[in-house]
Amino acid sequence: MLGYALIRVQKKWTDEPYQSFCKNSTLISAPKRRHKVHSLILVPIFCSKGMRQDRIPRYWLTMNPSQDLNETLRNHHPAAYACLSRVGQRMFFPLGIPAQAQQAKTAKVNATIGQLTDGKGGAMPLPSMAKAISGLSLESTTLYAAQGGHKTLRAAWKERLDRAGDGPKSEPFCTVGLTHGLSLLGDLFVDEDTDVLLPDPCWGNYGMIFEARSGGRVIPYPVLQDGKFTTNAMEDALAKVRSKAVVILNFPGNPTGYTPTADELAPWLDAIRNTTKPIVVICDDAYNGFVYENDRITRSPFHELADADPARVLPIKVDGATKELCFFGGRVGFVTFGVSGPAATALESKLKGIARASISSGPAISQAIVLSALNDPNLATEKATLMEECTRRYHTLKRCLIEAKIPHEPFNSGFFALIPVDNDPEALRLRLLEQGVGVVAIPGIRAIRIAFSSTSVEDIPELVNAIAEQLNLAST
Ligand SMILES: Cc1ncc(COP(=O)(O)O)c(C=O)c1O
Repeated sequence: MLGYALIRVQKKWTDEPYQSFCKNSTLISAPKRRHKVHSLILVPIFCSKGMRQDRIPRYWLTMNPSQDLNETLRNHHPAAYACLSRVGQRMFFPLGIPAQAQQAKTAKVNATIGQLTDGKGGAMPLPSMAKAISGLSLESTTLYAAQGGHKTLRAAWKERLDRAGDGPKSEPFCTVGLTHGLSLLGDLFVDEDTDVLLPDPCWGNYGMIFEARSGGRVIPYPVLQDGKFTTNAMEDALAKVRSKAVVILNFPGNPTGYTPTADELAPWLDAIRNTTKPIVVICDDAYNGFVYENDRITRSPFHELADADPARVLPIKVDGATKELCFFGGRVGFVTFGVSGPAATALESKLKGIARASISSGPAISQAIVLSALNDPNLATEKATLMEECTRRYHTLKRCLIEAKIPHEPFNSGFFALIPVDNDPEALRLRLLEQGVGVVAIPGIRAIRIAFSSTSVEDIPELVNAIAEQLNLAST
C-alpha cells in the first residue's frame, strides 16, 4: 500500500535517520542530503502489507530521537560519539507513558499509568505485602539473593504456575520486573536477522526492547479489526517470517485491555503449532488474572502451548508480582521456559550468564517480601477483594462510556481501555490535562488510553464526561 509520511528534518540530513526510517518502510524518493533546519518533507512510502497508514508507529514517521542524541554527542563529545555501540547509537528515552504519567502527577483524575491506586495517587498494597515489609529477617533482606532468584521463591512461583497447568516448566528465573525478563530474552533470541511479531497496538516498550535495543525486525500483527478479534492475524504474520522469529502474546493486553475467548484464540494457537520456521513464543502475562468477563480465557496461552513440537516452538512465560501482587515498585518478575530436563538447565544457564553480566543478582528485599506474601494464608482472600474493586471500576467505566456514547475498542480485562479519536490525540491529552484529567495519548494508533486501574469508581464519571466534552459528544 502506498502512503505518505511527513518528516521533520531538524538537523543536517545524514545517512543514519534515512536508514533507520527505511528499516520499516521503503522510501521511493530519497530526500536531498542536506536540508535546512526544521524543514518539512513529504516522502512517499510503501507500507508493509496489512499495515494501515494511520497505524504506522509514530516514531517511524518522525526522525528517530536517537539521531538528535547522537548529533549532540558528535558536537559536544566526539570520543563518546565515536565509541557508541550499535545499540548505543539506536538508543533514546521515548516520550512515552512514564513521561506522560509524570506530567499528570498533579492532575485531579490521573488515568495514565498502569498501576493500581486509590484514585488519589495512594498505594493499594495487599495487606500481606505491607505486613511483610516490617516482618522480615535481616538475612533475607540485606544479604545477596542467589543468582536467578531466591530458591524457595522460585519454587513457590512454580507451584502457582503448576496449579494453572501441568505442562513442562523450567524453574521460574527471577528478574528485576518483567521488563528485565523481556530484555534478557531479547538478548538471548533477537538479532538483526530475527523477526519479532508484536501485537498491534502493543505496549510501547516492546519496540524499545526488541527493536531499538536488540535490533530485531518488527512485524506488527493486528489484535482487533473493526471492533473484532483478528482470528487470521497470527497465520498472516507467521507467513512473513524470514528464517526465525520471536512472537509476543499479551493477554490481557496493554493498551487494549482485551482478552479473547478460547474459540477466538484457537486459530492463533493452531498457526503457532503449525509454524514452518522455528519460533520462540513469549507470553507476556503481566496482567494475568485480571479478567472481568466469564467467557474469556483465564489462563495464559503458555499452558495451551505445552504440547507444541520442541523442534519448532519454544513457549516462554514472562510474569511477576508487579501487577499480580500489586507490587509495582518491588521489581520482581519471572521467566519460565516451557521445557524441562537438560534443555531447561541449558537455557537457565544462558539466562543466568546474561543477568550476571548486567544486573548480577536481583534485590533480595523485594524477593523476600514476595515470598512472605505467597506463604500468607490470607493472600487469596485479599486478592479476591482487590479483584472486586477492579471489577467495579471496569463496569463503571464501561457503563459511563456507553451512556456518554463514546466509541471505544472492545475491552474486558486488564487495566486499560482504548478510545479512538479522529483528531490529534496528543492535543486532546494536553487539553484534558489542563482540566486536571490525565490520560495517555497514543498517536501511532490515533487513540487515548484510559488506565481505570488508577481511577477511583467515584472519579470515573467525571473522567468520562471530560473526555465526552472534549470530543463534543453528548454526555449524561
Ligand atoms: C504488557 C506489559 N508487560 C510488561 C510490563 C512491565 O512490567 P514491569 O513493571 O514489571 O517491568 C508492563 C508494564 O506496564 C506491561 O504493560
